Amino acid sequence: MNAMEQQRNAVADAAEAFAKQKLEHDLSGHDWWHVQRVSKMAERLAMEEGADVVLCRIAALLHDVADEKLNESKEAGLAKVSAWLQEQPLAAKEQQHIMEIISTMSYAAGKNPPMRSLEGQVVQDADRLDAIGAIAIARTFLYAGWKGHLIHDPAMPIRESMTLEQYREEKSTAINHFYEKLLKLKDKLNTNAAKRIGEERHRYMERYLEQFMHEWEGER
Ligand code: ADP
Ligand code: NI
Repeated sequence: MNAMEQQRNAVADAAEAFAKQKLEHDLSGHDWWHVQRVSKMAERLAMEEGADVVLCRIAALLHDVADEKLNESKEAGLAKVSAWLQEQPLAAKEQQHIMEIISTMSYAAGKNPPMRSLEGQVVQDADRLDAIGAIAIARTFLYAGWKGHLIHDPAMPIRESMTLEQYREEKSTAINHFYEKLLKLKDKLNTNAAKRIGEERHRYMERYLEQFMHEWEGER
């Protein structure tokens, strides 16, 4: 490893400590373990896709520090991350690339254009994969509890799409969240490496929902 690579790796280690400190006590589904999973998945996808592994790792580690659920506003969150990055020995171009990735990767923003760089695609896929599958099911119920939502409400029509306003208000149930977001994610994955993983996780969620509905009706 040359000196330059060593320095970039040191920034990634510092990003890990920074994110850990910020997200350790989160109960909204953005806890440190989510970030750890996304960061490991981003590394794995980056290797398979030939993306810049260290840059993907740094962006993944920082991606939720700026989340608007955890800050006064998205802008305030991004400013916090940007201030931290500026203190790091990292080329300005790389800092900008990381800021671009974390400010445009969220799903709720909806109108974000497709990720411009392979690194952005990889980190976005890693975050989305953590919202598909067995762990995603757990995160969804954790989040619903945090919000004070019901598990399921058959009187509420399933809403497959929500306006940004509705999304912000978060009038939903955990089960509805599968239809408004989780089941759509596999078709929004960018890279082939992520699509392969997403397919299997998607099928698992479909089986889960089928069993859930049978149990709800007392049939199984
Ligand atoms: P991230 O920023 O990690 O992509 P989000 O902020 O959208 O994810 O959500 C964090 C976790 O909480 C995800 O697993 C997501 O599916 C879940 N979640 C988000 N909104 C809702 C909701 N309205 N009801 C239930 N779960 C939700
Ligand atoms: Ni995330």
